[in-house]
Amino acid sequence: MRKPLIAANWKMFKTPAEAIAFIHSFVPLIQSHRRTDVVLCPAMTSLAAAHTAVTDTHIHIGAQTMHWLDSGAYTGETSPPMVKALGCSHVLIGHSERRQYFNETDETVNLKLKAALAHHIIPIVCVGEQHAEREAGHTASVLKRQVAAALVGVAPNEAAPLVIAYEPVWAIGTGLTATPEIAEEAHKIIRTQVAASLNSAIAASTRILYGGSVKPENAASLCCLEDIDGALVGGASLDPHSFAQIILNSAP
Ligand code: 13P
Repeated sequence: MRKPLIAANWKMFKTPAEAIAFIHSFVPLIQSHRRTDVVLCPAMTSLAAAHTAVTDTHIHIGAQTMHWLDSGAYTGETSPPMVKALGCSHVLIGHSERRQYFNETDETVNLKLKAALAHHIIPIVCVGEQHAEREAGHTASVLKRQVAAALVGVAPNEAAPLVIAYEPVWAIGTGLTATPEIAEEAHKIIRTQVAASLNSAIAASTRILYGGSVKPENAASLCCLEDIDGALVGGASLDPHSFAQIILNSAP
């Protein structure tokens, strides 16, 4: 059975003090809830404070991106050992905003995924089609290409921690959501590609999250269906009550 995972992507929001205040309000709201893995992905500058604040809770901390090399002359970048040293057990890789604004490519996603697995950091690889690609009927080919490219050279026996997030770009921050049917169909395409790239056992155990305007009101219908194993939440994860409600509403 795949344990649901719900992750908060805080993007470029919250100072360390704000991250701590969030965690202090949030923890009591989900204290007794153990059916879902919960991951918070603060900005790089708030990772250390957030990690300290979640001590003695079951909440995990993830980075929003990282470089793939251990060290080097790469001004402004953060390496896998650095991310680990800040207490991160997870890392987002290939978010559409990084693909759109920061030159993230299928190739760098692949390098980062392999680095995460090598450093025992759980990768949450983001894929998803743009609006024009969906309109043109290219959703399946885009998803297959992104998943296949991410998994080039990944050994099946190292891929067990893999998590994939399906985030249709047209649903991010727009208030539009995929219908459960659209999400289920996309998740099936992704799972089939994981089986083709790795094997069917890994495909069956890989958690595939939905992301894109997830809110407390739609969490029950979008977060945990046959092929949907949780959510990656942006805007609605910035408020502790709203994020806690998403977790509670989505629990199977
Ligand atoms: P929203 O939930 O704000 O649409 O953002 C989704 C997202 O990008 C999560 O990574």
